[in-house]
Amino acid sequence: MINMLFGVDTKKDNDWWIGSNTPNTNNLSKFESLLFQGNGYLGIRGTFEEHYLNEKRDMFILGTFDKFQDEPTELPNLPDIVNLEIKINGKIFNLDQGEVTNYQRGLNLKNGEVTRSFDWKFDKEQFKFEFRRFVSMANLHLFVSKVTVTPLNNNVRIQIKSGIDGQMTNSGTQHLVEGSKRLFRARFVQMQTQTQDSKVKFALTEYHRLFLDKVELSLNPHLELNRRQAFANYSIGVEKNQTLTFVKYANVYSSTDKDLRYGVGRDSIHELEHLGRTSYASLLAESSRVWEEQFWQKSLVEIKSHNNKPQIAVNYARYQLISNTPHDFGMNIGAKGMTGEGYKGHAFWDTEMFMMPFFTFNLPQYAHNLMEYRYLGLIGAVKKAHQNGYQGAQYPWEAAMPIDAESSPLWGGADIITGEPMKILSGESELHVTSDVAFGVSQYLRATDDQKFAKRMGDEIILQCAKFWASRVEWSTRLNRYQITDVIGPDEYKEHANNNAFTNYMAHWCMEKGANIIADLRQNDMATYTSLDKKLPLATLFRDLIEKASMMYLPQPDAEKIIPQDDNYLSYKTINVQKYKESDNTSEIFKDFNLKQLDKIQVTKQADVLLLLKLFEDKFSTSVIKKNWFFYEPRTTHDSSLSYSTHAILANDLSLYEQAFSYFEHACQIDLGTNMQSSVKGIHLGSMGGIYNTVIEGFGGVRIVEDNLSIQPQLPKTWETLKYSLIWQGVKIKVLATQDYFSIVSDSKFKFIYHDKDYQVEPKEKLTIEL
Ligand code: BGC
Repeated sequence: MINMLFGVDTKKDNDWWIGSNTPNTNNLSKFESLLFQGNGYLGIRGTFEEHYLNEKRDMFILGTFDKFQDEPTELPNLPDIVNLEIKINGKIFNLDQGEVTNYQRGLNLKNGEVTRSFDWKFDKEQFKFEFRRFVSMANLHLFVSKVTVTPLNNNVRIQIKSGIDGQMTNSGTQHLVEGSKRLFRARFVQMQTQTQDSKVKFALTEYHRLFLDKVELSLNPHLELNRRQAFANYSIGVEKNQTLTFVKYANVYSSTDKDLRYGVGRDSIHELEHLGRTSYASLLAESSRVWEEQFWQKSLVEIKSHNNKPQIAVNYARYQLISNTPHDFGMNIGAKGMTGEGYKGHAFWDTEMFMMPFFTFNLPQYAHNLMEYRYLGLIGAVKKAHQNGYQGAQYPWEAAMPIDAESSPLWGGADIITGEPMKILSGESELHVTSDVAFGVSQYLRATDDQKFAKRMGDEIILQCAKFWASRVEWSTRLNRYQITDVIGPDEYKEHANNNAFTNYMAHWCMEKGANIIADLRQNDMATYTSLDKKLPLATLFRDLIEKASMMYLPQPDAEKIIPQDDNYLSYKTINVQKYKESDNTSEIFKDFNLKQLDKIQVTKQADVLLLLKLFEDKFSTSVIKKNWFFYEPRTTHDSSLSYSTHAILANDLSLYEQAFSYFEHACQIDLGTNMQSSVKGIHLGSMGGIYNTVIEGFGGVRIVEDNLSIQPQLPKTWETLKYSLIWQGVKIKVLATQDYFSIVSDSKFKFIYHDKDYQVEPKEKLTIEL
């Protein structure tokens, strides 16, 4: 492939732009997801300002979950503040009418600004339009947009309607009550509302400024109030070649905000009164500065390659990870972030296993926040373990509020055989998430050496997870071993797997880790030992963990060096999965088989044994890894976007360079590619993490091995150089990798491993190693 097919337009000389050069209102959803804007608090889909059929306007605030009757809890879709209706001489502006030329719409990945410009000819009248907007990184509540319209032939009358539209739903479910709406001080439109069940309060305020050429008009709007809607209306005479500028300042506050001063309504208006005096350009500059200083300067990834698509893809991935990352600690990143309603804002193992490396290596404070969420989540996880008759903490497969035991839905798509909805068992049986959380904590601690976090929260999370496993594993007298039956592994096409290798190894790792922590605390930190001992009697737990870990069944490579994915997998029949792999749509296999049938076929949804081999590569020989790659890869449909990065990284390790790059391309194309359906309900945040991981862990060769960092770059053959920075145990390092050598500089003494040999970089001295 090598040229990466993108379904978006890019620019040859700009690594920070994606967009579209053709006015297209057919694939609204894909672009709404792709041009998402957010700041880790507030997230808004990239809808057009004007309305179109099949648009999906979504705005979310992280952590504001609500539950409608017995439906799963979800982030409520908030009232829309993006809308603008523009009428020219009484006719509503819309791209589907008239003639549009010089069209360009795009997202600036550096600062999150979305712009759209074009010429519009309608009824022989010609106009120039320009739209700009951003969600502020400097003020988390703020959204600002600006539109300019210039009539080129005649004087016209322009009417603008802009406001707060609370008629939004989550696929039909209305989470918000009617609430109150009104105009303040003749200029500020405000709506206050709250969720039906969780009673989270929101206030949204909008304020507008209008200019003719550069002169500000002093115009009060005519207020229009409808059910759940409040709009400001303006009417202005604009002469030929005059430019009308309309600036919208909007903000949203929630009762979950930790920075509230007087309450949502007053804070919202108070702030807007103040910010409304500042120009669009200054507010954007402030927000851009935060992007630059807080994020881009701390996360360097520069690829010099045959074209700039890989660079754009990794910039896009980081843009999305940053805009969807909680700014605070009580929240997690949903599998689709805030980019759409898919997965209802719920977080999965995607966070720890796929997104965390980006934060841990670049923005450790954000990684800390995510881990702190899991600490708060012990409440829900302990509850879940208890409800299921186990001890310790059993983390939810789908996580929403930290106090919730489980948020997975119970029913999925149609069963092709029975015609009924398929029951989703992940919440009950996809147990590996508990070890994944512990693993994430452990990787964070290794990379940051954040002892304070370990003492206050990290050790407790891991110990509670270990305790869960010690109570969950089952003793088999016949086989004289502990085992784990009836689970779902990463391959969700096997619903009742016994001894899923990934699950068993991870549970074993978790129990061993727990035992090591106890031993270490007993020896080196009696204060923490004593405080944890009160919650978890540590002596008993220690004995339990040692006994169970030592007798735990870990599926070993067979005579052919294949690690069985579970007890029965290797006895099932095989089918040719090529057609499903090649299909543009995921889950195509469900058109031919139902879950019961898939349960008995050697077909794997996503990296399962291969992910195990990636995580514990030091425990398996290269020949075992290779054999398993060639065994499992042809049986894998990659129906989860998470699959590609694991395959890319392992392939690179195994010197299967073409496959490695091809899987990297697949990962980049999930959202940015030509499939217009792939991102309809939001983009794939786990895969965004996977893109970063493939570049840094894969091609950049960065791995955490025990408590050390190993660096062994191997670039794709079309790449000239890869530069990246990362923070390892507080030391900031910069790596430059080429086809022939790599060099490292660091700000303090830095030790690493290359090909099993120890190296040390002295501060400010460059160490170069020939490859
Ligand atoms: C995958 C899971 C993943 C979830 C959310 C599913 O399709 O199989 O592994 O956690 O999507 O991304």
